[in-house]
Order: sequence, then structure tokens, then C-alpha cells
Amino acid sequence: MKKLYVKTYGCQMNAYDSARMADLLAPLGYAASDAPEGADMVILNTCHIREKAAEKVYSELGRLRHLKAENDGLLIAVAGCVAQAEGEEILRRAPQVDLVVGPQTYHRLPEMIARIARDGGHALDADFPALEKFDSLAETQASDISAFLTVQEGCDKFCTFCVVPYTRGPEHSRPPEAVLAEARALAANGTREIVLLGQNVNAYCGVDAAGRSWSLARLCDALAKIEGIARIRYTTSHPRDMGDDLIAAHGDNEKLMPYLHLPVQSGSDAMLDAMNRQHTAETYLRLVERIRAARPDIALTSDFIVGFPGESDADFEATMQLVRQVKYAGAFSFKYSKRPGTPAAAAKKQISEKVKTERLDALQKLLLQQQDDFNDAQIGHVLPVLFEKPGRNPGQVVGRTPYLQPVHADGDMALIGGIADVRIGARTVNSLKGVLH
Ligand code: 5AD
Ligand code: SF4
Repeated sequence: MKKLYVKTYGCQMNAYDSARMADLLAPLGYAASDAPEGADMVILNTCHIREKAAEKVYSELGRLRHLKAENDGLLIAVAGCVAQAEGEEILRRAPQVDLVVGPQTYHRLPEMIARIARDGGHALDADFPALEKFDSLAETQASDISAFLTVQEGCDKFCTFCVVPYTRGPEHSRPPEAVLAEARALAANGTREIVLLGQNVNAYCGVDAAGRSWSLARLCDALAKIEGIARIRYTTSHPRDMGDDLIAAHGDNEKLMPYLHLPVQSGSDAMLDAMNRQHTAETYLRLVERIRAARPDIALTSDFIVGFPGESDADFEATMQLVRQVKYAGAFSFKYSKRPGTPAAAAKKQISEKVKTERLDALQKLLLQQQDDFNDAQIGHVLPVLFEKPGRNPGQVVGRTPYLQPVHADGDMALIGGIADVRIGARTVNSLKGVLH
């Protein structure tokens, strides 16, 4: 058996891709290992979204160079969005790398490995043949109580700060039949919750064999009928693609969980316009109202960028104001980071690091307070928890509420894979504690 170490950076899509790469290499005799030391192959599945994420790859490659000095046979692969964006550059800066493979071509890994074994040298593949990849990936995955399922990839929105349209290519949806077949296979393997993934997942428009186009709401309805599937989630959504039927589904489809990640990025119309978000603060707030009308208890989360070029104190205050109005259950917030090739990187009025830090601190303080408030509001309530795994302490199981909050409870391991009512008792830093009801 050869050892494979995969290190994943970035989003859930990358986590999904990493698992698929491991599946793909299993027939070649590679078994997962949890450290690079002693591995026969290391894959860095990289993220290019912010500068820091991309830099980490080169420092990790520096460390791996020493491992390769000790083990000449070690294969080093760089996959994911840095591979897509910087292809040749990686091989130039880090000659210890054997393979570079983009997010749309990793199904060709076995063939690339065989080519290197035969001919030596390096291999690079970063095309965009979106359809081909899913056709050649194995359908079955390891048994997970909650499993990711990619339904859509790529982005045509071209927010001016973002590299995704360049690294992940144009929007593309998988046919509904393929998605449903994968979901059935997962359910047969013990999966109870499916998390549909896509860079713009709510723009999903898969075309079936009869030529009809399916919306995400319709796909969720069909998934809800699969025996064994108890919960459905989806991420990440764009406010522009939140269709009426999807909003309605949050009221009608009982398996669709009351949780929605709906990034707004900023509360200032001037910034939203400069970001090419194609919505205003007001249209976002109206949208939130309509979603809450369909599902009043829904947990809303978002992404924010502070210090976008030209952001004034008043623009930032508009973001704080929007946050106060919406009341989020959680959020990710970032300092604007210049990404090569994106329009905003060339903007003149870049914001100083000092101001970015101040704004991020203030925003994160507010968001964290809201997150704590949201979690505290569940104390004393009984919630259905889907148990996913054993806890850190013996005799403890860990699961999630419908609002995606992790819950620890004392209970039998036989609870794993099932949904049980839990009375929420207390909040710890990142999770809730409860007692089986
Ligand atoms: N700088 C900072 N944050 C960014 N994001 C995307 N691009 C950038 C950038 N250049 C954030 C956005 C997006 C999330 C995935 O990452 O908030 O929603
Ligand atoms: Fe990036 Fe905007 Fe597309 Fe989201 S919608 S992936 S932020 S370009």
C-alpha cells in the first residue's frame, strides 16, 4: 500500500474535490495518511481566493522540499485554484513539484501519474473541460452521515474583487439525473444529510434527458423523496439568484434546513456597485424579509469584505448598519486582498492595512456578538439533532441542529446516523451542550 497525504485549503468545494482525488487514487494503491512524513504522494489542494491562502502553498512547498530530499520517490502535486491560476509559475518557483492539476482536470491524475512514472519530468493540466470530470469520477464516496455533493461549479458574476470566475471557469450545472443518482448512492451508504455545493449553487439549472431545465428548488424536492435522506442544505448562494421557488421551498420542503449562507459583502451601495454585485443594500434587505416570511426561524449567515478600494468611513458604517438590521447567526469577514488580474486590484484608492484592521475588528466584534445571541437563544429549547460522530470525551456524541450549530451530548454511539431531540443546555465557545430529551 502506498501512502497519500492530501492537504486541503479553502472552501467546501475543495474538501469535496480532495475526497474525490483520494477515491480516484485508491485503485492505484494509495491509502490516506494523515501526515506528509512517510507519504509516497502529497497533494496540496489549494485556494487562491485571498493572498494569504495562496502564499501558504509556497511555504508548505518549501517544507516539502526537505521531505523530497530524504525520499526521492515522493510525488508532490499541487491541485486546486492556485494550480489553475499559476500553473507554469508553480513549476518555475517550486521545481520539487511533479504535478500541477486544476480543479476541472483532477480526474486525469491517474493518467498523469502514469506518464511521469514512464517518462519522468513534470505534468501540468489546467483546462476547463467541465463535463468530462463528473462523468469520469466514481459515484460512491466514503460513508459520511453528512456528505457534500457538487451540483454546480464556476461563476459568471465577475465581482471585481474575485478570482473564482478565472480559476473555476464559467457556470456549469450537472444534470439532475446524475445528481440524484449520486444522492441515492450516498443514501444507500448511510448518508442522512446532503449538502449541495456550488460557487453559485442557487443559480443551479441542470438540464435533464428530456431537455427540461431544473431549478435548485426542484432538485431539492426530488432529493427530499429519496429514502434515507433526512436533511438537505446548499451553499454558496448569490442574492441575485434567490428564486421565488427556492424561497418558497424554505417554507414547503421539510427536509430543507432553516439555514442560508447569503453573502452580501458590504452594506454600502457605492461599494456594492464598485464590486459589481448587482444588488443594493435595500434589495438585499427586502430579499431577507421575503426569506424570513417563508421561514421565520431561518439562520442567515454571510461573507463580508472590509477595506475594498475607495471604502469610506460612511461606507463601512453602512455595512455595520446592515448587519445590525439583519442579525446574522454567523459570518465570515475578510480584509480586502488584491488578487492579480481582477479589476479591483488595479483600483487607485486602496485602503491602508491599519484602517482595514480597525474595520475588521469592529465588524467581527459585532458579528460575534450576534452569533452568540443566536446560539444563546436556543438555550432551553428542544431541537432535533442529527448525530454525526463520537465526541472528544468518551460516551459523548456530536451532531448538528437544523441551524447547523454543533451540539455535544452524552449518549450511546448507536445514536450516530439518527436524529434525536436534545434539550439545549449551555453554550461553549464554538458549540452547544445538550441533554437527550
Ligand atoms: N479579498 C477579500 N475577500 C475576498 N473574498 C473573495 N475574494 C476576496 C478578496 N479579493 C471573500 C468574499 C467571498 C468569500 C468566499 O471570500 O467575501 O464571499
Ligand atoms: Fe466570486 Fe462574486 Fe462569483 Fe461569488 S459571485 S464566486 S464572489 S465572482
